[in-house]
Amino acid sequence: MLAVVLSLLSLVAAAAGSGCCTPTQWEGDMGLILGSVANGNTSFIEGTMRIHYDAQQKMIVTVQNINYNGLPIRQTIIEDFNKRVQYTVMGDGCSSKPLGAWLPNCIPDNATSAEVVYGLGSNSVQARAFEVNYGEFTVYFVVTADTCVPLAEDVNGKFDGADIMEVITFANIKAGISNTSVFNIPTNCPTVQFPVPGVPRARRASPFHGYL
Ligand SMILES: *[C@@H]1O[C@H](CO)[C@@H](O)[C@H](O)[C@H]1NC(C)=O
Ligand SMILES: *[C@@H]1O[C@H](CO)[C@@H](O)[C@H](O)[C@H]1NC(C)=O
Ligand SMILES: *[C@@H]1O[C@H](CO)[C@@H](O)[C@H](O)[C@H]1NC(C)=O
Repeated sequence: MLAVVLSLLSLVAAAAGSGCCTPTQWEGDMGLILGSVANGNTSFIEGTMRIHYDAQQKMIVTVQNINYNGLPIRQTIIEDFNKRVQYTVMGDGCSSKPLGAWLPNCIPDNATSAEVVYGLGSNSVQARAFEVNYGEFTVYFVVTADTCVPLAEDVNGKFDGADIMEVITFANIKAGISNTSVFNIPTNCPTVQFPVPGVPRARRASPFHGYL
């Protein structure tokens, strides 16, 4: 597990801020494995996603092709942090729920970090691993050393009452948004009124993407 590997590194406190912010707009592929246990109920999610990330417009779209406890799910999650609504588009259906605040797309200043190299010889990538303690959970990030492009993200600990272990890898990242209509909200999506009593806002756990 990456978390185990990373915890063997001696991470040192970043002196004056991490200085690491992902590109403002990027898209790419994600591989995901997420195990969780809540009150004895276990769940296992694995799959792939296409992510479209726009910190300027404060919107994130993930087109997901995942397995939830063996059940295949194809859905698109549109997170609109301006309206603070998260839409789930599945087939012809659409549902929405309240969303938490936008997180800056920078690794927090309290991160500890270490330099790492991926690959061998001339086919190598200079990378930087960060560890951030969010209290109940810890997030490990690996990014390219020069441009802070996501390579991997691990989340460990307690999240919304569940014990979780999440491993995400990123690949084929390109800067910019090739087709801005991925951010269009389907017309059949419901709008939600805020605040909704008793309905917790979905939240992001990290500057990269966060929780499903
Ligand atoms: C555990 O799963 C069962 C069956 O799906 C469900 O009825 C129950 O509410 C779940 N318990 C918790 C604490 O989520
Ligand atoms: C580190 O910074 C993050 C982001 O501001 C914050 O959520 C977290 O609680 C901080 N961790 C500690 C141990 O203070
Ligand atoms: C852009 O995306 C929209 C919706 O996903 C799609 O209908 C359209 O064909 C795409 N345009 C291009 C040029 O690929």
